[in-house]
Amino acid sequence: MLRIDVAAMDFRIIIYDLVDSTLDVARKLKNVEEFTIILAKRQSKGRGRFNREWASPLGGLWFTTILYPQRPAYTYSVLSLLTSLSVSKAIEKVTGLKPSIRWPNDVYLNNKKTAGVLIESEISGDIIEKSLVGIGVNVNFRLEALPMELRDKATTLLEEYGEPVDEHSLLTDILIFLREYYGKYKRGQHNDIIADVKKATDFIGNYALLDVKSGKIKAFIKDLDTYGNIIIESDGIVSTLTPNDVERMEVIKI
Ligand code: BTN
Repeated sequence: MLRIDVAAMDFRIIIYDLVDSTLDVARKLKNVEEFTIILAKRQSKGRGRFNREWASPLGGLWFTTILYPQRPAYTYSVLSLLTSLSVSKAIEKVTGLKPSIRWPNDVYLNNKKTAGVLIESEISGDIIEKSLVGIGVNVNFRLEALPMELRDKATTLLEEYGEPVDEHSLLTDILIFLREYYGKYKRGQHNDIIADVKKATDFIGNYALLDVKSGKIKAFIKDLDTYGNIIIESDGIVSTLTPNDVERMEVIKI
């Protein structure tokens, strides 16, 4: 086990060469401290939202952090957004690149997906008891390491930055931002988190194509509410959508 002690913040990191999914390894751990991290150099069965396959070759940052939020289930989207925000801020700090958060859980560079977040939670009553916060960042590999069908939609830090990125610094910064924003979340400071998310997005005030249960809709994204849901206008009707309602968002730049 590796221990990273950053400014008195103590993260316990368990590192594997190969696992099926760090989410599944984390699920089997009982009675571990918050911010215990399972990190794998490769995953053979990495997964994304809606059970999509998540390619996890060597050179990526694939890890799951165990948290015990003890917060109401309707705040779930804030947890997801603050995680994407932490990844986005860390990428910016380490590379100087300017990522953009694509609601609800993706981090994009140059309109291509660079990182994703998948949170699997145990909810009791209305309270999120335990969250497995899965984070995947395409760091030091070329696009050729990804399946053909992803190569025009995804990118890596190596492709965008032009040289290898220090994975240790990136991981450390993600964890520092995560701890800071998670602290705000626990204290109910949603407004502060959402304000920072809004500064790091490109979808508010734009049109987007949304994959929803009934199919694809074109909508104007008016805003994010305090709980991290999007407020949209489509065919003259204003409504609020949660992350569960939307499988994918494609921003239409006009
Ligand atoms: C998505 O964009 O759909 C979410 C992708 C989440 C990928 C990470 S990699 C570490 C953790 N283990 C997994 O199997 N998935 C998450």
